[in-house]
Amino acid sequence: MPASECVPFAKEGGLADVVGALPKYLAAMGHDVRVVIPRYYRVDRERFGLTPLPGVLVVPMGICGNMYCGVYEGRIPESGVPVYFLEHEEFYGRAGLYEKDNESFLDNDNRFIFLARAALELCRMLDFRPDVIHVHDWHTAAVPVYLNTIYRDDPYVGGAASLLTVHNMQHQGQFYEGAMDVLGVGWDQFTYLGLEKDNEVNLLKGGIYNATLLNTVSEGYAREMQTDAFGWGLEGVVRERATDLHGILNGVDYTEWNPETDPLIPATYGIDDLSGKGLCKRELQREMGLPVRDDVPVFGLVSRLVKQKGIDVLAEAIPRILELDLQVVMLGAGEPWAHFYFGDVMAAHPDRFALRVGYDNRLAHRIEAGADFFLMPSAFEPCGLNQMYSLRYGTLPVVRAVGGLDDSVENFDERTGAGTGFKFHDLTAGALFDTVGWAVHTWYNRKDALQRLIRQAMAQRFTWEDAARRYELLYRLAVARRKGKDLPGAAFGGR
Ligand code: ADP
Ligand code: GLC
Repeated sequence: MPASECVPFAKEGGLADVVGALPKYLAAMGHDVRVVIPRYYRVDRERFGLTPLPGVLVVPMGICGNMYCGVYEGRIPESGVPVYFLEHEEFYGRAGLYEKDNESFLDNDNRFIFLARAALELCRMLDFRPDVIHVHDWHTAAVPVYLNTIYRDDPYVGGAASLLTVHNMQHQGQFYEGAMDVLGVGWDQFTYLGLEKDNEVNLLKGGIYNATLLNTVSEGYAREMQTDAFGWGLEGVVRERATDLHGILNGVDYTEWNPETDPLIPATYGIDDLSGKGLCKRELQREMGLPVRDDVPVFGLVSRLVKQKGIDVLAEAIPRILELDLQVVMLGAGEPWAHFYFGDVMAAHPDRFALRVGYDNRLAHRIEAGADFFLMPSAFEPCGLNQMYSLRYGTLPVVRAVGGLDDSVENFDERTGAGTGFKFHDLTAGALFDTVGWAVHTWYNRKDALQRLIRQAMAQRFTWEDAARRYELLYRLAVARRKGKDLPGAAFGGR
């Protein structure tokens, strides 16, 4: 499983949670799973007890010639899953994973082509013959292209099927066409039915065409990514492979996100005794500098502050939202305008709005435990993890009905009392405001219905055991397909 992120070593978003969790559960089912990621500067070799493998890995990089890297080995904590770290000072010896000061590194094409190719070469070094190579997003999407071209007859990986999981259609790894010469797969792959898009190299597109099978992280997003509104220009390509595309909702690591045992929250609680949640709320208000009040609902938000997360719509809606008697607690980092804008909101409404800029796992847990509601007004959300954490913590999600948010949250039904949260459809400040208003009204005036929603939410489970079983089925299907034992493939893929 080559990837660009893996918890606990390197994380920007939910991709890291998936790559850190899924292999553990596959290993528990008896599979031999191995992860490959870059040894970014921030991955502390001593803290994680990484040990160097003997020898040097030679990575052919097209016209750049052979490049070399060291390989360190570690384990996903509490599992025997090996993680191989590629040590390459020039490419990965930097503070950020993908960017600096909100600007993508100019050599991201080479950095991730290197990752893809090194992962394949590593199999030779380890004398390892995988049945399936499972890649994630554009960063490792070159792997399926390699498997269908220069590695087609390779004794180590030539027989391997590939699965590409798309976590996000917006980021596609699109680069100047010269990247073809570094990839080294031949210019005949630079076509409309391959790596070319708008006269540039598009690694995600190449992966979508070449992977044996495809999936994304919810059934909802699997449908959405085939449409103009969500496909970011690759919807047609995805549609061509629609029969090979599956949706598997991510799981939650309930050993980490469980209010009954969470060591990071001030008081633990469970579905039968919620008293600890009141304490968590007061402690959150205190920590965030808000008035400590039981008689006001608290809305939490933990997110990358980017347009995908609907932060611009929230910015538009927040003045009206803060006219309601409520409190909002926000934790995140991202686009600089958002830091300034929401900083100003906090200065103007110190009794209602509190912002922490930055990345803080401890505070994320405390917000999940201490808030009454959790906001996710995403423009698109392939899966989303925080709404699933929120459900477990009895913190009712207020979400836009897209992708994984729509699949994992059931809307409150005023008539029957069913539901686990509050949903809206239009990506507008008005719709967001109305839905927050609905939640606030329910909190103040329908306490019984609210208690029922909280219990229904806390009873939900999205386990990695379930997700891993579904991945196992996909792997088996992919292996059969690659060996030609399956029905003949569609016009594309099936290779
Ligand atoms: P995405 O991957 O698009 O950012 P997800 O909901 O899948 O969205 O995953 C986000 C993950 O990152 C969650 O585990 C969330 O708790 C975490 N996260 C995001 N921003 C922060 C932050 N500022 N501090 C702590 N955790 C954060
Ligand atoms: C991406 C998506 C997010 C998803 C995560 C893990 O970052 O934006 O919705 O939960 O990947 O699959």
